Amino acid sequence: MTNQSYNLNSIQEILSHLPLHNVEYFETIGSTNDRAAEIAANNNDLFSVVIADEQTKGRGRSGRSWFTPPGSALALSIVLPINANKNNSEIALVSGLGALAVTNSINNKLNLDAKIKWPNDVLVSGEKVSGVLAEAHWVGDSLKAVILGIGVNIGKESIPPSETLTFPANSLNNITGRKIKRLEILRDIIQNGIALWPLVGSREFINTWENGLAFSGESVKLISGKNIAIYGIIEGLADDGSLLLRLENGKLKNFQVGEIQLRPNIDKN
Ligand code: ATP
Ligand code: BTN
Repeated sequence: MTNQSYNLNSIQEILSHLPLHNVEYFETIGSTNDRAAEIAANNNDLFSVVIADEQTKGRGRSGRSWFTPPGSALALSIVLPINANKNNSEIALVSGLGALAVTNSINNKLNLDAKIKWPNDVLVSGEKVSGVLAEAHWVGDSLKAVILGIGVNIGKESIPPSETLTFPANSLNNITGRKIKRLEILRDIIQNGIALWPLVGSREFINTWENGLAFSGESVKLISGKNIAIYGIIEGLADDGSLLLRLENGKLKNFQVGEIQLRPNIDKN
């Protein structure tokens, strides 16, 4: 195996200083987000993590698939504790929490300049190295679980075949020319996620997310679920995490985290 291999013992050891209720490791699993949701069904008031070496049914937004072959990536899900201070509108901010946890980690540890392609992708030099899938589970009006799923491409084997990609992708080993230690990045991402969770809902959190945005002040194209393209310049984020776009007619419009894909505006350059 070309990348740092790991097992439950090495993972538990490296995470031992963190306030985690449950730490589970799987050599292979369908999706870590599904297992995390099962854990949250029994305990959703403490942090827990699920880590896998390989995912056979890893997923991104809207049922798109996320590639996690064995031995080359990080795939993890964090059960975020729910308490009375968290309300529904804050759940939309969890994508930003995950993207910030990853960018802070790889920028500080690997000295990179990773940026967030709003809302949920992490780019280095315009290529996707990590994706975040935040999922909330409700029973009626009651919030049962908030799961933060994170995938990071470490080795080159984790880059999906180019014909399956909707956006250019790369891996941290390729970018840095080094063999990254998966465990260190894993610990740092989880630590950042735990530290940032209490800030979710504050303007300070939004400002940090905003500062990390890719294409800020630049012209972009938003593609809606119905494949309609909207052009504008990114001005920042509103308090609810929605994207503020200055449209070509001069009006400022909010776009909610949802079925919107963001692309640099290469059509108009
Ligand atoms: P987009 O990335 O197209 O803007 P998105 O942010 O909604 O959309 P998702 O649909 O959640 O992203 O991510 C799934 C997409 O990511 C897949 O369609 C695939 O093209 C791409 N992908 C899958 N696995 C990986 C990976 N390991 N690294 C980079 N990209 C991947
Ligand atoms: C995206 O494409 O931007 C989101 C990808 C999210 C992938 C991670 S890997 C761990 C967790 N389990 C999943 O099935 N998806 C997320």
